[in-house]
Amino acid sequence: MINYEKAKEILAEYGQEHVLGCYDELSENEREELLAQIEKTDFSVLENLIAEKNPNSKRGKFEPLGAVTVEDIAKHGQQYSETGLDAIRAGKVAAVLLAGGQGTRLGFDKPKGMYNIGITHELTIFRCIMGNLMDVVKKAGAFVPLYIMTSEKNYDDTVQHFREKNYYGYDSSFIRFFVQDMAPSVDFDGRILMESRSRFATSPNGNGGWFSSMVRAGLLEDIKSRGVEWLNVFAVDNVLQKIADPMFVGAVIDSGMQSGGKVVSKAAPDERVGVLCLEDGMPSIVEYYEITDEMLTRRDEQGRLVYRFGVILNYLFGVEKLIEICNNRMPMHIVSKKIPYMDENGTFIKPDKPNGHKFETLVLDMVHMQDSCLAYEVVREKEFAPIKNPTGIDSVESARELLKLNGVEL
Ligand code: UTP
Repeated sequence: MINYEKAKEILAEYGQEHVLGCYDELSENEREELLAQIEKTDFSVLENLIAEKNPNSKRGKFEPLGAVTVEDIAKHGQQYSETGLDAIRAGKVAAVLLAGGQGTRLGFDKPKGMYNIGITHELTIFRCIMGNLMDVVKKAGAFVPLYIMTSEKNYDDTVQHFREKNYYGYDSSFIRFFVQDMAPSVDFDGRILMESRSRFATSPNGNGGWFSSMVRAGLLEDIKSRGVEWLNVFAVDNVLQKIADPMFVGAVIDSGMQSGGKVVSKAAPDERVGVLCLEDGMPSIVEYYEITDEMLTRRDEQGRLVYRFGVILNYLFGVEKLIEICNNRMPMHIVSKKIPYMDENGTFIKPDKPNGHKFETLVLDMVHMQDSCLAYEVVREKEFAPIKNPTGIDSVESARELLKLNGVEL
């Protein structure tokens, strides 16, 4: 492990020496804890506070991107499904569940997947997801390897929960858990916030680091030894999420493209979803807060929004390309959040409004690193029921309604 001098040197490079402010008063154990945390942290994320150094601040020229539409799928679905099922049976498709988020909007202090949305019986988000995956397993007659990403903070709870639930009936030899990296959190002046005298505040570094975290966890060997060629990455919070959907997988394979993204037609021009389009001729996602008014409202001859394909965090990526781009620097997104911290008097504060920044890379930025991406349109009411908030838009309430609509008993 690094010593005090080395730690000071690392921190000095980023003007963060105050992190060692209480070092002299710490016990031997606390000192070790702090030095270990400094050693494993990538402080270079702080450079992103300087806008010019953040590649995310410059965007290219956007153009619309067509999709395989719901109508196309009705026509060719059978063919896609056959291709997809063949690939699944051959062990070429695995799924990656992104469950490292903090779910602050939902305000549930356990992993989001453990949230019970049932009314008369227990129905956790994890149960919904595992049930959907099991449907594919039954259809294919083969298990789909499932990699589950957690954060440092929710790893133990997640693993224990799956054990207690007997992996929701899944063959546990097809499930692997791994942990994503953490990033330091700073106040609005860019100063790292302390959580205690011997720990600085950190948060999961966003869902964009999922593949590099898998590689670091040694899972590339697992992927290769199983002969996996495609990874279907998806978010924990959509209870209607179809995972390793044979039609989607087959459509991407048949198209010869390098990747695919499930999309829904936007409900309204100002719906807060990222839109799959082209940026400087390459596939890309433009976030709702980056899109111009002209792009928001432009319509085609049939009156449809030209930029209408909203992403639902369900992507299929080819393993070969992922390996190639694994060490690419990803754009960093800086988000304002409420970050609990210890003030200079040693009092622990839980702020009720945002008091600093967290650093996140996003999986959607990986799309721009692909040479091609098939936009695959699904029916919103059948596949998109995200749970971000307790009530209102994208909430437990709205997801319950959608589950009922799809015949799920609550
Ligand atoms: P969100 O963007 O909704 O973030 O995550 P969140 O942290 O879960 O929720 P809020 O914003 O604090 O309310 C979208 C998906 O990406 C995963 C989440 O678990 C979810 O499946 N995610 C997010 C990670 O795996 N790691 C992260 O660091 C962030």
